[in-house]
Amino acid sequence: MAIPVPEKRIADFENMAFGMFIHYGLYSQMGCGEWIMNIANIPVEEYKKLFDTFTAKDFDARKIAKTAKAAGMRYITLTTRHHDGFSLYDTKGLCDYDAPHSPAGRDLVREFVDACREEGIMPMFYHTTLDWYQPSFKNDFKSYLKYLNDSVEVLCTEYGKIGGLWFDGNWSRPASDWDPDTLYATIRKHQPEALIIDNTGLSGRGDIGHPEIDSVTFEQGRPTPLDREGMTKYVAAEMCHTMNDHWGFGEGDFNYKSLPSMIETLCACRKVGANYLLNVGPDGDGNIVPMQKVMLEYIGKWMNTCGQSLYRGRPAKVCGEFKNFALEADGRLYLYIHDLNVAGDANVIVDGGGRGFKYFKNVSGKVKSVRWTDTGEELDFVQHGENLWFNATGFPYGCNYVVRVAEVEFEN
Ligand code: GLC
Repeated sequence: MAIPVPEKRIADFENMAFGMFIHYGLYSQMGCGEWIMNIANIPVEEYKKLFDTFTAKDFDARKIAKTAKAAGMRYITLTTRHHDGFSLYDTKGLCDYDAPHSPAGRDLVREFVDACREEGIMPMFYHTTLDWYQPSFKNDFKSYLKYLNDSVEVLCTEYGKIGGLWFDGNWSRPASDWDPDTLYATIRKHQPEALIIDNTGLSGRGDIGHPEIDSVTFEQGRPTPLDREGMTKYVAAEMCHTMNDHWGFGEGDFNYKSLPSMIETLCACRKVGANYLLNVGPDGDGNIVPMQKVMLEYIGKWMNTCGQSLYRGRPAKVCGEFKNFALEADGRLYLYIHDLNVAGDANVIVDGGGRGFKYFKNVSGKVKSVRWTDTGEELDFVQHGENLWFNATGFPYGCNYVVRVAEVEFEN
């Protein structure tokens, strides 16, 4: 059976490869994550005090877009409204529980969209479907659905061309309660090229759901390859990840993933053709916190030095050993080499091995050259039929990029 050809918006999404997720809202002021209202059972009236102190005084969309761009991210998915029901956008009178009516007095989504366009970043909108603020969510679901639909219509008509809508919360009620046909038709009507994503949550990783969905999600988990044979439509895949254990700012959460593990996870996503959506949770004033900023800076350095083939690179039938794998792009192969050591003097470098010949199979075509993409150094190789071995020299003393990439060129 055939694998369907991706529609343009879906292919474009796959080519963006790497995005920034931003969880920012009233909860950011508490520094206890975005679920605090629910987890600490804070009554709406009490929680609303956060509305009166929400100034977003340091929320600088341009600065955030620049940070994302420097990290190699090509799109940003911002929480335009999260489960607490507060909107960062001007709801045009649907509900005044929004940023323009708060002390911030600004439409933060407008600023976000403008900043993204100036930096050449695709803006995407996260939007909750679950709502802890609207009484109708509990007692008049039909009218709640209309409110949700009208809200999404505002987002689709007020901000020019957007990259897509990323929904989250349908897992809170039985699937039959929702009316995705109407909601998705609203999007297709105003934004035919926008992606539609519905987060199927921790228990539904990789589920496809509605036929309008353009990408499956793998919240907090390594994506597995999708078997697209016989699908009626090609769907992309995206894995979203926190840097520590919270999406919204968690002031007391020190449990950061390591930089090497984030680089490796980004690579592992692309190995199976999935996008990587890495989250930041700005503080109450809207600043990306220092730890997250530094991580992004280093990921950006890695992207510039080693990661350029991640965008156009697609999973290849070529296989490596252990964590090593190959992507193909524009008739070339890119070999992603893990656990490589620094080459240096035995008195200073702890030599855990890792250098030397690496094996890849299913390499069809006659190899002309193999070279590191970071230094351009040409590497020795041996090819027997479809088997390729190449000599992975160690990192030059002074660096260790965690994952190093070799480019394979073929004879014509
Ligand atoms: C979960 C959480 C939510 C978070 C989302 C991000 O569904 O409910 O707080 O925004 O994951 O993927």
